[in-house]
Amino acid sequence: MKSGDIEQLKREALAEATAASSPEDMERVRIKYLSRKGLLSGIMKELKTLAPDERASAGRIANELKHELSVIIESGSTKRESGSGAAVAGHDLTLPGRWPALGTMHPISMVINEVVRILGKIGFTVAEGPDIETKYRNFEALNTPDHHPSLDARDTFWLESGELLRTQTSPVQIRVMENCRPPVRIITPGRCYRRDTTDATHSANFHQIEGLYVDTSVSLADLKGTLSYLAQELMGPNVGVRFRPHFFPFTEPSVECDFSCHVCNGRGCAVCKQSGWIEIAGAGMVDPRVFRKVGYDSSMVSGYAFGMGVERIAMIKYGIRDIRMLYENDLRFLREFA
Ligand code: PHE
Repeated sequence: MKSGDIEQLKREALAEATAASSPEDMERVRIKYLSRKGLLSGIMKELKTLAPDERASAGRIANELKHELSVIIESGSTKRESGSGAAVAGHDLTLPGRWPALGTMHPISMVINEVVRILGKIGFTVAEGPDIETKYRNFEALNTPDHHPSLDARDTFWLESGELLRTQTSPVQIRVMENCRPPVRIITPGRCYRRDTTDATHSANFHQIEGLYVDTSVSLADLKGTLSYLAQELMGPNVGVRFRPHFFPFTEPSVECDFSCHVCNGRGCAVCKQSGWIEIAGAGMVDPRVFRKVGYDSSMVSGYAFGMGVERIAMIKYGIRDIRMLYENDLRFLREFA
């Protein structure tokens, strides 16, 4: 027997003790090496037969084996006694665990959650519709005739079934009104699709939040009040709104709604392109023809609707220069929103 053999035995003993996964395993290791008839006591007897210098080094390794093995066995049993239940030899179960990295909220989700929270406070509830829509709900019921350019295959993704990927969240207005009697007060966040070539401000896939309020005497002033409240809650207390005349087939009158620039307070800066205003939403009073399509009596009810681009709001609010950053999933960018 040489000290190299004892060294080898020591390695095996420590490995077995470390791998022991139950008290029974550990006890087996103890008996194998440390009991009276165990391997270590055999070695101790053989030491006497060795030459003096060999005996010294072999004896030292044998003592190390005994000591280190005892420590491992002992620490396993104190852990069991201290109640950790699943004590595993060689592992300190009392150490705090490692936290898995926490994800962060995507800026698009942040804007949607914020708008849902703000408008929820004044009674709007969330309604959702499918991404695949019928031509009827995306266009016809919204008073958009077949010859309207937005139906063109260069603008809309048509499916072989004759259905399409919705180009706006407005068809959810139709779905809700088909199924509920007035009053209706909903917002509908969701994905939309248009055949736009991607660049810094366009994406073929984007998000809108639609709002619809129908009741017995809703006016344009209510629309302006709601959007002013939203502007201030979302962008800051000094932000105002203005309406510019516009056209949408499903609202009459129609407007485009601008928020005053939250960065320069309307004085003019790079964000608002020196105009002091930022275009945020399309809106207007629901056209009576739309009410007729869903079976509402347009002499009894009136309503407003608005639709805004979520990416646009996120870019303005968080100073994001390129819409593509919202889709690239670059963790360095996403972590800025922790
Ligand atoms: N759906 C319109 C768009 O995508 C926005 C809009 C919604 C306009 C509701 C008026 C009323 O441009």
